[in-house]
Amino acid sequence: MPLARPAPVPGTVVPGSVNFDEPSRGYVREFCYRPVRHGMLETRRNHWLLERIWARFVSMRRAVCPGSFDPIHKGHIEVIARASSLFDEVIVAVSTNYAKKYRFSLNERLEMARNTFSALSGIVVEPMGEGLLSDYCHARGVSAIVKGLRSSSDFDYELPMATMNRQLSGVETVFLPGDSRYLHLSSTLIKEVHTLGGDIADFVPRAVLRRLQGDVGPDTTPVTMVQPKA
Ligand code: PNS
Repeated sequence: MPLARPAPVPGTVVPGSVNFDEPSRGYVREFCYRPVRHGMLETRRNHWLLERIWARFVSMRRAVCPGSFDPIHKGHIEVIARASSLFDEVIVAVSTNYAKKYRFSLNERLEMARNTFSALSGIVVEPMGEGLLSDYCHARGVSAIVKGLRSSSDFDYELPMATMNRQLSGVETVFLPGDSRYLHLSSTLIKEVHTLGGDIADFVPRAVLRRLQGDVGPDTTPVTMVQPKA
């Protein structure tokens, strides 16, 4: 028996509503964009312009991969790279939590992540600030948070946050199972192994290795935060 669905009101999208016949992008396009396309703005020239604006901004699927990245490691990188194949743009948002003690400064964490992804288009690295992730997602037009899962305990930890973020701003969380090569990795474990003289070269990108080996001086460049929309 087909599922009953409420009649959509043109020009609006009910948060959490699902179009059972069309992919969600088609749903938004049809019911948000149609009033513009068929209204006063619809001329031959404007039609082309509106299509371009639609393609550039409205249909762009932007995801965020948030974290401390203290430091970024290959488990993170593998998940972020897979996320970038699912979304038009992935923001690697480096968080600051003043209750936490970091091994690397925010600048250093940003620099290691930026160096790591510099050759990949569609992945940008920026500071997340110290506010709510849901506010950050709203301000940056992010439709999904992507998190990698290494184990069921990761899922137990992440699920309440995913639900809270969806209730706060409607942003969904997408979980990607971590690759089996990296399920044992965590920034904490990597730092401990390195501090005690172990070889971590297989677990971190070159930018992190260089910094851990002291080949790069401390980065004290001022960090520019993204201003949330008023
Ligand atoms: O790498 P981490 O330290 O596990 O990353 C944690 C992070 C940044 C994803 C998490 O602490 C977070 O979402 N911080 C933002 C503050 C926030 O929104 N808290 C409420 C979560 S529902």
